[in-house]
Amino acid sequence: MASTAAVTQGVIPVELLKGQKALVTGANSGIGKATAIGLGRAGADVVVNYVSGRDAAEEVVKEITSFGVRAAAYEADVSQEDQVTAVMDRMVQEFGTIDILVANAGMQRDAPFTEMALEQWQKVLDVNLTGQFLCAREATKEFRRRGVVPAVSSSAGKIICMSSVHQLIPWSGHVNYASSKGGVQMMMATLAQELAPHKIRVNAVAPGAIRTPINRGAWETPEAREELLRLIPYNRIGDPQDIAHAVVALASDLMDYVVGTTLYVDGGMTLFPGFATGG
Ligand code: BGC
Repeated sequence: MASTAAVTQGVIPVELLKGQKALVTGANSGIGKATAIGLGRAGADVVVNYVSGRDAAEEVVKEITSFGVRAAAYEADVSQEDQVTAVMDRMVQEFGTIDILVANAGMQRDAPFTEMALEQWQKVLDVNLTGQFLCAREATKEFRRRGVVPAVSSSAGKIICMSSVHQLIPWSGHVNYASSKGGVQMMMATLAQELAPHKIRVNAVAPGAIRTPINRGAWETPEAREELLRLIPYNRIGDPQDIAHAVVALASDLMDYVVGTTLYVDGGMTLFPGFATGG
């Protein structure tokens, strides 16, 4: 993926989010990590949330602070209400407020349907959907308390829900994950409708196949990679930076009139590539 790195190197305007405070959940690896770093590069101060893996979170903090902005790692399980409220209280105390929430933390616990334990179903719904609900609710309280500060942003706050192409594409063997992302889609749209009058913008980013630890099995062997590429018209596997760029743009005032949208960042995966030659 050297070519991707070269194309994406340094494309983020460094002052785009200057003075804004961002919280990224699940930010010590994969998409969350790239997004936290991207927001920092764009000038935001960033809280790097993680549930385990403190060292990795501190590495992300180090990289972000090298851009001359503030960052800190906060441990919390986003599915636990008391931990989410504690994170938000601490962020307001230490960073002053929150302008951008990237509700990113997510997981897979795959199994064929009849073998899927209730615990597997519940855990994925708890983290992927309830976790986003809790973080969005607590961030919204602070957005509403503070209101719009025109020198910082045209809106009172931005929520970006990390969804997936599987909010749209059914996915055998992953009913818990696909259901959680379908839920994220409707939660996002409902919150967007409810919160727009308060000048809060809620949107989602729906990644396709991005090269991260969550889907290692789908790209690490040449056979798996070839099979995966058949599902991607743009013919490359995504890089976490592809998602970071979309989030930075959506969070910025460049997108101030974008409300309740899902931005698919998937190389065309949702274009039914099987129909390119069939149907
Ligand atoms: C999943 C990945 C998968 C991708 C495309 C993502 O939401 O987490 O495991 O490769 O969708 O199917």
